[in-house]
Amino acid sequence: MANINAGILGTGHSYPEGILTNADLERMVDTSDEWITTRTGIKQRRKAAPGEYTSLFAVKASRQAIERARLDPSDIDLLLCATVSPDQILPSTGCIIQAELGAHKAAAMDLVAACSGFLYGLSLADAMIRTGQSKYALIVGAEILTQYVDYSDRQTCVLFGDGAGAAVLGPVDSSRGILAARIRSDGRYQEQLYSPGGGTRKPPTADTLAAGDHFFKMKGNELFKVAVRSMADISREVLEEAGLTAADVDLFIPHQANQRITDAVASKLNVDNDRVYSNISMHGNTSSASIPIALDECVESGQVMEGRVVLLASFGGGATWGGVLMRW
Ligand code: ACO
Repeated sequence: MANINAGILGTGHSYPEGILTNADLERMVDTSDEWITTRTGIKQRRKAAPGEYTSLFAVKASRQAIERARLDPSDIDLLLCATVSPDQILPSTGCIIQAELGAHKAAAMDLVAACSGFLYGLSLADAMIRTGQSKYALIVGAEILTQYVDYSDRQTCVLFGDGAGAAVLGPVDSSRGILAARIRSDGRYQEQLYSPGGGTRKPPTADTLAAGDHFFKMKGNELFKVAVRSMADISREVLEEAGLTAADVDLFIPHQANQRITDAVASKLNVDNDRVYSNISMHGNTSSASIPIALDECVESGQVMEGRVVLLASFGGGATWGGVLMRW
């Protein structure tokens, strides 16, 4: 069986122009800029306008990633769209993106792993490339979460934002690429973050809509503890598998959920602040889009460059979590 190293060849991101600030939220619910900033680190988030939908941003981010990988959409043979806010139930948003891009050779599908969706995608695509089943994979995390947020629930409405980030994974020489990847889940935590309505268990009706059953429900402080523990543990696992330690990490890019979660994970891992990337103040939590948006920002700013060791870690609803370690 082939054993080909897979690495990221190009990245991209895109988000709506609309901005929802903490001051805007102060006018909508009983909250304050001071509370949101000190408890989460968030100052603003992007919000799609009526008529804007998930694949619009996914396609823009994907085009950029494919161009920067110096490939053509027809080279992509695997297209994974990580999302919990698809354009529609059927077909998959992956197939919609495929058609828009003209990536006609790809097997396209959606991947539902909430905030860990992008790392689930990287991990699966890495395995497919390693074994020779795929050559060039596009992984795109894309969300319009503001449509699933109840703007009368102050606990959730301050957290989430919209956007998309993408990466093209392909064969690289053996000195670089993904060094270790691990994904995990535990469905016993499902009610810590979920949306009860809209599926077959509670089909959408006028009553479920009126009750807001399609909105996210969250037990924030329980999630917080599991998130910190799981992200730190899985980071240690991938480091150990690659024979490295936290001291070898040049840049740690965690899922952007809450600045306090990021700080707690970094402190457990002994990674100091100047090696941790955060854009939570600008974007809030964009679920599966958060890591690829952050990664692309780091590529654009030169914080990620050839030879650098980059650690990615995520935690999300499900519960799901993952860790990916790579040498750029
Ligand atoms: N504005 C003002 N007050 C608020 C707000 C708000 N937006 N939201 C909650 N409060 C109040 C609560 O009602 C509570 O008041 P009380 O003490 O009178 O009952 C008080 O603030 C403290 O509430 P807690 O829930 O204990 O606050 P906490 O410090 O845990 O912060 C938060 C809440 C920000 C949700 C935090 O728990 C968190 O970030 N958890 C992780 C959630 C998350 O990121 N979920 C996304 C998916 S999973 C992931 O991405 C990791």
